[in-house]
Amino acid sequence: MSRQDIAARAEDLRRQLHEHIYRYYVLNAPVITDGEYDALFHELAAIEAKHPELQTPDSPTQRVSSDLQTDLPKVEHTAPILSLGNAFGADDVRGWRERIGRLLPENFALDYVVEPKFDGLTVVLTYTDGLLTLGATRGNGDIGDEITPNVRTIHTVPLRIPVSPDGPPAPRRLVVRGEVLFLKQDFEELNRRMAEEGQPLFVNARNTASGALKQKDARVTASRPLTMYCYAIVDADGNVPGTQWGTLDYLRRLGFLTADGVIRQFDDLEAMIAYVEGFEDRRHDLPYEIDGLVIKVNDHVIYDDLGVVGKDPRGAIAFKFPAEEVSTTLLDVVANVGRTGVLTPTAVLEPVFVSGVTVRQASLHNYDLIEEKDIRIGDTVIVKRSGEVIPYVVGPVIAARTGDERTIQPPETCPACDSPVERDEDEVAYYCTNPACPERVARNIEYFVSRGAMDIEGLGERGVRLLLSEGLIHDEADLFTLAAETLLPLEGFAEKKVQNLLTSVQAAKERPLARLLGALGIRGVGTTVAGMLVQQYHTLDALATATVEDLEAIEGLGPHTADAVVEWFATPRNRALIDKFRAAGVRLAEELGTEKTASNALAGLTFVLTGMLPTLQRNEAKALIEKHGGKVTGSVSRKTSYVIVGEAPGSKLAKAQQLGVSLLDEDGLLAMIGDTP
Ligand code: IVH
Repeated sequence: MSRQDIAARAEDLRRQLHEHIYRYYVLNAPVITDGEYDALFHELAAIEAKHPELQTPDSPTQRVSSDLQTDLPKVEHTAPILSLGNAFGADDVRGWRERIGRLLPENFALDYVVEPKFDGLTVVLTYTDGLLTLGATRGNGDIGDEITPNVRTIHTVPLRIPVSPDGPPAPRRLVVRGEVLFLKQDFEELNRRMAEEGQPLFVNARNTASGALKQKDARVTASRPLTMYCYAIVDADGNVPGTQWGTLDYLRRLGFLTADGVIRQFDDLEAMIAYVEGFEDRRHDLPYEIDGLVIKVNDHVIYDDLGVVGKDPRGAIAFKFPAEEVSTTLLDVVANVGRTGVLTPTAVLEPVFVSGVTVRQASLHNYDLIEEKDIRIGDTVIVKRSGEVIPYVVGPVIAARTGDERTIQPPETCPACDSPVERDEDEVAYYCTNPACPERVARNIEYFVSRGAMDIEGLGERGVRLLLSEGLIHDEADLFTLAAETLLPLEGFAEKKVQNLLTSVQAAKERPLARLLGALGIRGVGTTVAGMLVQQYHTLDALATATVEDLEAIEGLGPHTADAVVEWFATPRNRALIDKFRAAGVRLAEELGTEKTASNALAGLTFVLTGMLPTLQRNEAKALIEKHGGKVTGSVSRKTSYVIVGEAPGSKLAKAQQLGVSLLDEDGLLAMIGDTP
């Protein structure tokens, strides 16, 4: 090949690679495989290695940075990089419109553009004759850090514009503003990699993005998969659109990534307000984190005329959603004992206000996760409360450590009864092994009286605890011998309430056997399995004689459940309980029921299971969902309809929270099926 041919080939490869990078990262529509891409890339890299003079600054090989050390020189911005005023609700937006209205001719109509308020870092890109020549942070608005080699590693940042030959010509100089961030899935992937390498996990995407951008060694930046969305032209030498809507379109056509799908144009204030208010529920569906939306006056002449107060342009305002992540101090970790004996670590926090409520406790999910994230007592931790989800501890802020923090160990004995704690080999959960553990007993009775179980009205958690502490009940069966004389002196047990309670207790004696069986808290035996067992055995006494093999022969009943049933009936305490039920006149036999016909209640829905469900084993839950037309898959994606969360859930919960997938507990699932025994 002649030198000229080689130069032409290099040029051709660069063009092809730019096109493929753009298709892959911006359009999300690659037309070649990764392998084919790599081949092109390596061919170009080989040519450049042999003929360094053919290497150009916009070559895709320059994204993978050289070992050049940048010592972050400062750059002066050509125009001030302004900030934004905030609105925290519809009235603030109306107030803003009124304020700017006073500066405009009377009854002046305005167009607005609404954009996501990306939770990332402002970066300013300068293109000279179409070539990326400078990348800078916002800094103080006038002077920023120069981070050109670092931004070059970001695949959504074009090295040359227009990226596509069909794009509009670039002005001689163009200064573009945007936000650098981690897509949620990229951040998760990065943390998976860190975990694999045994390194501490990153806690906060925004801080991690900031750290990655300011690396002195751009190779480190390159190893962190950042994304950049662009939304403004700060300065230009040449013709650029006169509206915000036009600007976004222009940036998109030049090859920048813009927030398509979210950005909207409005000419009606109230319609715009309805959109921004309604967006809060949708924020979790986006692939990136936002902390609100930005409302901008569309017309740039009016926008500029409105001027600036302090550092905030009057022509735009940020509509902020409540913060979902805050930091606070982890004061202690206590183990909560569940009905089945599972010990769930719970964080005791310095109270903190997040998403509109004060949070004092948060879930830590399980002890493995605590170790993985290296969470310690005394740590400053990030707490997240997102949507309906129970607040949870995202992770520690390692940089805030003083050295006085204490590591957290799973308890060796049950905090409620001091019995030894055990761990199942194939599960992350630790269990209290004592079936008579007072906390387990209390939880079991609470469950026994609850709506889905024996449905005894007028007794909640507090009532149950009171009856236990007064020594009026010791187990579920004692509920059936409660008498008015002993209840009436108790605080909160007025005449009427006692009446209702006793009536309800009487009614509960007649509940179908499957209901009683499901209410006993046998691991794996919920409403559905209880129904299956009753259909086979008809009486509790007959069931008590069943062997593991007998039970395993029942279709849809797993070995874990079979074991649990046999073990439950073999426990003297439980045999005594049955005798007490019998003595109290509780129904222990059942007529043969008709088989429940499967429904299509879950047709078209996809479920993922995580953690231990209170009554259903995993395979039982799966069978149940499938029986009702639903699908169960192993991993959470945006296509997942619901994640069913049990005790001690794994990383699937975090993933679901990140993707904004709806969560359900077992009761929620059963309710969807309309499952009653
Ligand atoms: S416009 C002069 N648009 O929010 C206009 N800013 O709280 C000011 N931000 O520092 C910026 N998404 O880093 C604008 N779509 C968006 C934005 C956005 C995120 C950030 C930006 C700014 C901060 C102000």
